[in-house]
Amino acid sequence: MSAQVISLFNQAGGVGKTTLTQNLGYQLKEKNYKVLLIDLDPQASLTCFMGIEPYDLETTIYDSLITSGSSIPLPLMNCYGVDLVPSNLRLAASEQKLTFELQRELRLKDVIEPYLQDYDYILIDCPPSLTMLPLISLVASNYVLVPIQTQFKATVGTDLLLDTIAKVKAKLNPQLKILAFIPTQYSKRNITEQRVLNLLHNDLSKIAPILDPLPRSTAIAEATEYGKPFALSPKSNHTLLSLFKSYVNQIESLTQQLTHV
Ligand SMILES: Nc1ncnc2c1ncn2[C@@H]1O[C@H](COP(=O)(O)OP(=O)(O)OP(=O)(O)O)[C@@H](O)[C@H]1O
Ligand SMILES: [Mg+2]
Repeated sequence: MSAQVISLFNQAGGVGKTTLTQNLGYQLKEKNYKVLLIDLDPQASLTCFMGIEPYDLETTIYDSLITSGSSIPLPLMNCYGVDLVPSNLRLAASEQKLTFELQRELRLKDVIEPYLQDYDYILIDCPPSLTMLPLISLVASNYVLVPIQTQFKATVGTDLLLDTIAKVKAKLNPQLKILAFIPTQYSKRNITEQRVLNLLHNDLSKIAPILDPLPRSTAIAEATEYGKPFALSPKSNHTLLSLFKSYVNQIESLTQQLTHV
């Protein structure tokens, strides 16, 4: 079977895209799936979160994207049992490099095509923007998973987010589906955040399932500093780990359902 390719996408910054890419990827591996994570952000947060120092890397996703004909192999690094294609700041130059390339929006799709049979899940960590990099990610994906912060500003940016996904679906990738929304950094004792969570349910549940909110937790923030998935961090705890596992169970069943309809 061909891999399920999922973009973690939201143009808003700091909403938990990278944290989820890392931990969902690791938990999918724990269920014996073959997992590839692609860091498509010049900030290279995913690369760092997986314990790799990005600055001195000789080959990254950048080299694959700018090499015409996708003839060079992806630079794969195995981290904690999942494969990672790392990134670094050089990726920022790819936007300009690809400007005059024909069919540049297909570039990532072409790059991962030879790997689809090798993996069960390919998760792509998008940068917080609406530029070429998230666009090529959405074109290469079957699904988009949207982390969304339970803050009022998230409700404002959601229309633009949905509009972008709809445009990509209409013009470039008719197969693209929203897999789910994951409310993030949620404090259940904060009344404003409760209200925003209700608003998200009212507005978005007709579009795609809304999974249980990921709480705001210093344990998650601290875990990233160790350069390891949450499960392997000394700050790990059972409640949050169960939540990551439940997301993975839902992703597993949603990708199966949505693939077979
Ligand atoms: N649930 C959480 N509770 C507390 N801190 C969190 C939580 N999720 C993520 N963080 C922290 O918030 C910061 C931003 O998270 P992350 O990098 O995953 O977001 P992002 O959407 O990928 O950001 P960017 O848009 O910059 O790529 C990180 O330092 C991370 O450790
Ligand atoms: Mg990120």
